[in-house]
Amino acid sequence: MSTLRTRVLGAGYARLARPVLYRLDPEVAHHGTIRAVRLLGSTALTRAGTARLLGPGAPADGSSEVEVLGMGFRHRLGLAAGMDKDGTALAAWGPLGFGHVELGTVTALPQPGNPRPRMVRLPRSGALINRMGFNNEGVHALAGRLRAARARGLVDIPVGVSIGKSKATPVQRAVEDYVTSVRAVGDVADYLAVNVSSPNTPGLRSLQDAGPLRELLSAVVAEADRTPVLLKLAPDLGDPAVDEALGVALDTGVRGVIATNTTVSRAGVHPTERHTAEQSGGLSGAPLAPRSLEVVRRVADGAGLPVIGVGGIMTSDDAARMLDAGAALVQVYTGLVYAGPALVRQVAAL
Ligand SMILES: Cc1cc2nc3c(=O)[nH]c(=O)nc-3n(C[C@H](O)[C@H](O)[C@H](O)COP(=O)(O)O)c2cc1C
Repeated sequence: MSTLRTRVLGAGYARLARPVLYRLDPEVAHHGTIRAVRLLGSTALTRAGTARLLGPGAPADGSSEVEVLGMGFRHRLGLAAGMDKDGTALAAWGPLGFGHVELGTVTALPQPGNPRPRMVRLPRSGALINRMGFNNEGVHALAGRLRAARARGLVDIPVGVSIGKSKATPVQRAVEDYVTSVRAVGDVADYLAVNVSSPNTPGLRSLQDAGPLRELLSAVVAEADRTPVLLKLAPDLGDPAVDEALGVALDTGVRGVIATNTTVSRAGVHPTERHTAEQSGGLSGAPLAPRSLEVVRRVADGAGLPVIGVGGIMTSDDAARMLDAGAALVQVYTGLVYAGPALVRQVAAL
């Protein structure tokens, strides 16, 4: 019954919802989807109905439950950062079947992000390119929303918050900027993800170099107090740079690694979409999978820290490969755009 429901959901999304969404500009489709998802989470009735219809899909005997970072997760799949940046739909992700959600990336200052268009689909490649540039309402808005949702009992899964640097803040003052975000949201998040790996904020990725990274992570971990801090890495770091970042993470008390963010590489893009792929921004989805998997394996083998594997999980087999590579949890973004909510049920059932 449950498998049948997953199949019906998958076919329904592919035949009905996806063709409609694909007629729209990708960002318009995205905002429409978030508005619809927010409605699903808006009342006890819609939450219960959503959970019943789309539900967790995890085995009823609890065999998929795991403990990571000292927290219980009902299964290993979460929603990746960037989908619900401002947490406007945060009450719906649990009923929709996710085991955790990473909100953000938010910045200390609200900011509009880059000019539109800033997101493009590459359907033949199973990919997206985005150069959103951390468009968000600011950390204080998200913290207020999350606090209110918790007070109303609407948060039923672990909620991580991804923090990044405000564009207006020069990279030399990045530490202060991140610490402002930690102060605002640290006590209400289940974990914090330090995003130094987006390709769309000038200078951001230089914070992955050992010196600046050490200074940043030490300050964030100290300010976060008991809230676990995770580091999100770019797939474009070479292996020695990954090892160096891991060394810094271990030294500074970081509790986990998220691998990976989007890539500036265009390897693996379908030949007919190479021209579109010349646009600037971070590539996500299927072409990213091989490198994300490699980084996950390297971190899992080397660091002794739990890894959240993300990048190119388009099917439950992809998720199984990430878990085999040593990921403790996995996340999806682009896979959800192409496969719809059935993907959540498939991976949750692993
Ligand atoms: C439109 C879009 C926006 C994103 N925004 C963020 C973000 O704000 N912060 C972040 O850490 N990652 C962001 N990501 C990256 C995803 O969280 C994820 O690391 C990446 O897309 C790889 O996973 P996927 O192949 O499942 O999409 C974004 C990705 C996309 C496609």
